[in-house]
This record gives sequence, structure tokens and C-alpha cells, in this order.
Amino acid sequence: MIWTLKDLLGLEDLTREEIKFILDTVASFKEVSSREIKKVPALRGKTVVNLFYEPSTRTRVSFEVAAKRLSADVINIVAESSSIIKGETLIDTGRNIQALKADIIVIRHSCSGAAILLSKHIDISVVNAGDGWHEHPTQALLDIFTLQEKLGKIDGLNVSIVGDISHSRVARSNIWGLTKLGVKVTVCAPAMLIPPEIEQMGVRVTHDIDEALKNADAVNVLRMQFERDEQGAFPKQLEYFKNFGITRERLQKAKKNILLMHPGPLNRGIEISSDVADGPQSVILEQVTNGIAVRMAVLFLVAQGRDKNKK
Ligand code: CP
Repeated sequence: MIWTLKDLLGLEDLTREEIKFILDTVASFKEVSSREIKKVPALRGKTVVNLFYEPSTRTRVSFEVAAKRLSADVINIVAESSSIIKGETLIDTGRNIQALKADIIVIRHSCSGAAILLSKHIDISVVNAGDGWHEHPTQALLDIFTLQEKLGKIDGLNVSIVGDISHSRVARSNIWGLTKLGVKVTVCAPAMLIPPEIEQMGVRVTHDIDEALKNADAVNVLRMQFERDEQGAFPKQLEYFKNFGITRERLQKAKKNILLMHPGPLNRGIEISSDVADGPQSVILEQVTNGIAVRMAVLFLVAQGRDKNKK
């Protein structure tokens, strides 16, 4: 297939073939990180700007590492130390970055739709690094790539996503991507943390953690986002851990080789116990490593897509 998309804004709008094409491209970039000189010239002469309005460790560093491994120049803009705090709008910031002749903006923002809005006002590529509760497409791609790599296939798997589904862009992107690839997805949380009518996204809902784990090939555990609990209505931390926390006792009742995933950052003792997070079923740090190849593939493809659009 010929890639023509200049942006990656979410997985909802991608076809199954486009998602598979990205995953195939990831596989070809993964080997670069095992070389002695971890660099290819694919984006030499291009400039990538990481524009982060929200805190991040994994995603921001991963995009920077990925861009550098592709030989791009990388600029990091953190909202608190930029003219954003003087009142500059997102669109003005984007237009100025374009005027500075950057080629790709990687954006993280607390508002759902921020990446889409930006992409409508600039001609350079936009990659969504997480926007509000909406989507976090590269996180879902690295989760799916890790599943495929560890289990040897993706179609027909049973994957459970456990935790704060309502506020989770990771859950939404995973659900779009996994269901398009033929995965049976179950979401599990207290009723107040499951959005109404989520079944329309093609998932099964349960409020019973043992039931969610029973036939799962993998469980993706989400962070409890207590910072989004504006009404103080979330279950208390100990209560959540007692009823939904992923513990060794619960995993012992699941499939023997169940994969344990988490997008990070972890809240140990709240959604997951430490022995499980660091245990043999955990692929959490492999997810982080795979994030580099995923972001290399995405940066490479959107740059190619933009070049095609310019012709
Ligand atoms: N998984 C993830 O998005 O982590 P960061 O917030 O550290 O980027």
C-alpha cells in the first residue's frame, strides 16, 4: 500500500489495512535499535517539534529518541516555559512552528480534539501524543505491536482492559485498534468508570475482575486518573485495589501465560501490585522499548504522507 496520510490523529479513522501497514513498518524499524550505531538517515533534514502541554515521561522521550534515530532535528517545547503561558493560542503556536520550517508537530494536550484542531490550521504533519480523554494512538499501536510480538498473532485474541475506562484515551485508542484487527475486547471497571453505551464500540462490559481475567490472553491495566476526579466520586484507593487491583492471587486464576500490560505511569498498590508489575507475566518495559520503533514508523510515514500530498 502507498501511505498518503500526513497526520496521525487517532485510530478511529484508520482502516484495518492502514493499522496493519503501520505495524509492518514498525517491525522493519525495530532492528535499528539493536545496532551498534542506532541511526538511519530516513528523516535527515527534517525537523520534529515535540509540543507538550501536559506532563509526560515515556511518550515525550520516546518521540525524541525515535526522531533522533531517524536523523531528524528535534526541538522540545514545554508549555510552562514557552509563550503559551503569555496567552498564545494553540493555532498561533502551530502556525509559528510552521513558519519556523518544522516538518512535524507531535502534540500532547489536555483537551480532547486539540490535535485535530491543530491539523486543520497548518500544512505540516501533526501526530497526536495524547489529547484529553480522546485518543493516544501511538500508545495503542505499541500495545498492539507488543501483543502481536509476544503472542505471535492478533486476530482472535481476548484482551481485557481494566481500570478507568471513562477518562482513558489509551482505552479508546486500544478499543478502536484492537476491534478493527479482530480482537475480542472486554472492559472492566466499577460502573461509574465505564462510559454509557461503550458496547457500541464493539466491546463486552463486566464489573467482575475475575470474569475479565478468566479467558484473557492479555490484560491491559490502566492507571487510576485521580487527578480527573473533579467531583470526588471515584472509589477510594484501597477500595479500588481490593475490588479491581491486579494481584498475584487474581492472576493465578487466569490463563497461565496471560500477558500483563500497563501504559504507565504505574500506581503500585492501587491498580496493580508490585510483585505482579515486576513479575514474569509483565511486559510493561517491553512496551516502552517497542514505543521507539512505533514512533519511528509513525514519524517516517507521516513525513512520507506529507511529501506525497505536496506533489
Ligand atoms: N503512557 C504514557 O503516555 O506515559 P507518559 O504520560 O509518561 O507519556
